[in-house]
Amino acid sequence: MKRCHHLCRLLPLWLSLVILSFSHISYGDNVTYDHRALVINGVRRVLISGSIHYPRSTPEMWPDLIQKAKNGGLDVVETYIFWNLHEPVQGQYDFEGRKDIVKFVKTVAEAGLYVHLRIGPYVCAEWNYGGFPLWLHFIPGIKFRTDNEPFKIEMQRFTAKIVDLMKQENLYASQGGPIILSQIENEYGNIDSAYGAAAQRYIQWSASMALSLDTGVPWVMCQQSDAPDPIINTCNGFYCDQFSPNSNNKPKMWTENWSGWFLSFGGSAPYRPPQDLAFAVARFFQRGGTFQNYYMYQGGTNFGRTTGGPFIATSYDYDAPIDEYGLLNQPKWGHLRDLHKVIKQCEPALIATDPAYTSLGQNLEAHVYKTSSGACAAFLANINTQDATVKFNGKTYQLPGWSVSILPDCKNVVYNTAQINSQETTSEMRYLSSISEGTDQPLSRLSSSGWSYIKEPVGISKADAFTRNGLVEQINTTADASDYLWYSISFNITMGEPWLVSGEQTLLHVESLGHVLRAFVNGFYVGGVMGSASSAKISLSKLIILNKGKNTIDLLSATVGLQNYGAFFDLSGAGVTGPVTLSANGVTFDLSSFVWTYQIGLKGQDMSLFDVSDDSASLWLSDSTLPMNVPLVWYKTQFKAPAGNDPVAIDFTGMGKGEAWINGQSIGRFWPTYTAPLSGCSNSCNYKGAYSSSKCLKNCGKPSQQLYHVPRSFLKEGANTMVLFEEEGGDPTKISFATRHTGSLCAHVSEMHPAPVNFEVYPELAASKQKLGPMVHLTCPGPDQLINEIKFVSFGTPQGTCGSYSHGKCSSTNALSVVQQACVGTSSCSVPVSIKAFGDPCRGVTKSLAIEATCSS
Ligand code: GAL
Repeated sequence: MKRCHHLCRLLPLWLSLVILSFSHISYGDNVTYDHRALVINGVRRVLISGSIHYPRSTPEMWPDLIQKAKNGGLDVVETYIFWNLHEPVQGQYDFEGRKDIVKFVKTVAEAGLYVHLRIGPYVCAEWNYGGFPLWLHFIPGIKFRTDNEPFKIEMQRFTAKIVDLMKQENLYASQGGPIILSQIENEYGNIDSAYGAAAQRYIQWSASMALSLDTGVPWVMCQQSDAPDPIINTCNGFYCDQFSPNSNNKPKMWTENWSGWFLSFGGSAPYRPPQDLAFAVARFFQRGGTFQNYYMYQGGTNFGRTTGGPFIATSYDYDAPIDEYGLLNQPKWGHLRDLHKVIKQCEPALIATDPAYTSLGQNLEAHVYKTSSGACAAFLANINTQDATVKFNGKTYQLPGWSVSILPDCKNVVYNTAQINSQETTSEMRYLSSISEGTDQPLSRLSSSGWSYIKEPVGISKADAFTRNGLVEQINTTADASDYLWYSISFNITMGEPWLVSGEQTLLHVESLGHVLRAFVNGFYVGGVMGSASSAKISLSKLIILNKGKNTIDLLSATVGLQNYGAFFDLSGAGVTGPVTLSANGVTFDLSSFVWTYQIGLKGQDMSLFDVSDDSASLWLSDSTLPMNVPLVWYKTQFKAPAGNDPVAIDFTGMGKGEAWINGQSIGRFWPTYTAPLSGCSNSCNYKGAYSSSKCLKNCGKPSQQLYHVPRSFLKEGANTMVLFEEEGGDPTKISFATRHTGSLCAHVSEMHPAPVNFEVYPELAASKQKLGPMVHLTCPGPDQLINEIKFVSFGTPQGTCGSYSHGKCSSTNALSVVQQACVGTSSCSVPVSIKAFGDPCRGVTKSLAIEATCSS
């Protein structure tokens, strides 16, 4: 690999500017690195990257998501490669539809962005089994992620397969394509000590195997402090400013800046305040970083049975800058876009030198990047939670607590991470019942007559059932062909067994590795129990009544996504491993080592009941006795897609747990009855101070996930078919449809806002180059939209948040007419936050301007 030393450091500024202004993609980019940055065609680059995983959205969504990433100031789109999607059966590859990685990479290239391809092939990612196909587990002698021949053969074969696929399509930068970077393995350094001395050999092997594939672009290993040269070791975390790579020849790179956190069934919803996320990013660039990737930039949806686990939810929204449905998550998206713009303004200085650090006081830091040709950029950080006033270059600056001010000319603050200048929007679900009558109504919603059903048999019903002595581990038995494994046992109770008398209460006790267990005695449901993300293990204790003569106990064990993280994660088992006991009259009888009958999966699955073209039409019953709130029922209905283009969601309130298919495509597991804990949430989370995944939670006491995304491309004109498998018991007539849209636009800016207008962000204001004070900016989200109503405005001391602002003690009387005049009928408007515009309703009081507006097309 060619390194850039003196030459590119001395590159005249004009040359780098000329090159930067060209489109990213030219024929045969030369990508190398040096101690400051990735070097593309001889020029060091400051790169902003974001994760968008192709199978977590649809090919129809990709162009829009990527364009929004570009508008948000990204240079690079990162994705993992998901081995178990592409090779579900050993040697049989699938790159169609949502799995079309070539198309995804080309779509990114068409937008003029680069790609970071994280091949893994272990990826973690809250993805089933960390991305490994289950067949891998059954290769004789295999041990995952260590110096093991059978594993290395498969890992190399798949990695080479992906590299070859990319090469064939000329997708590496070295071939004129967009891929500038690739990753091998994933965070092995977090767990490698558990693998002993073999770990070191494995990492050496992974490195040389990757390098031998000759991609022509650098490789990275994340969280791998001993990554062998020339592989770059990179940092993952909520903050990476303190990180330094393992060689002075490598740049400081951040491959996962967690923009929020993932949701689990049974958990509350994590969110990360934009001020803290921006703070973390600014700190990283302040302290010498040059490549930063948001994990996730758009999280998306875990369709089908792709979630990892156990208990990862179907939504992978992640509180990312673009939400699960593809809408902007404001003000996060806008606040980061503003940050990216100012970082790009600093790029010439950032790539030229290492920063010079000076202390401005305790936990008050200044870092300055200065070039000999006169470029200068400064970052001033306040790492305390209290506000501070600092002196820098003879000038005084106010630094809000836990914030970084960025001065692209070393004089003027154009951005402060704690001051959100960008507008906020509310994204709302609009339930179809509230949409005016007419075409929007789904055909058969809220009527039981529109539903038909098939009861899934309790216990053994398939011809391929088999018996074993004793209890078996579930994943080794099902190979994850289904979530479900039936454990069934029948026995006779004869007269004269003193401990077990017919008609008397008997305690059934079952121990299971998880994840969910439902028990049926003589065909009747006696109860269920589920584990949680923190502990999958469960035990069930139920008083049951046995009959004289034959009795049957059927245990349905279900997995909810296979483990994806940790040393030896592949070996953590599931299912009823026992003991299974019956107790009565002080005597306990252990059934564990008896002969059990097993059935993998459901009869309805074998019959493809979820498939629209199934030949089971005549089996569906549509009598008036639609079974409700009983376990094990398949439901089917038809509905009309909501009109328009807004993203669609189904609200599964009323249902228990199961899986849903729309026109034969699985939208994932639903589980609205699994609610978040009652406590631990905060409505307004203080962004000041170090963030952790449990710091800012919402949704306590509510279903962890109630709404489930149905991509528009799954829907068609006319009748659509929905099939549900309900495992626990639910009422499908309570299901409703909603569409997601951007509600109000809001902004709330103080007249003391330190950031003057950044003309790069708001070019429309650049004409009046005079120093403007703080401004409120509103822009309609849609291309053809105009602001049609000012729902709230106050210049004074307004309170509250977007959607629920209220007037404070002080409020200017002309504010509404001033703002209406400036904004209504425009697609975008800017209003100064000043007494010049509004008069002074309360002298001596610091005032702010809050506006809530709506747009329409
Ligand atoms: C990281 C891992 C990612 C993802 C993330 C949490 O440790 O590399 O794949 O699992 O954690 O969302």
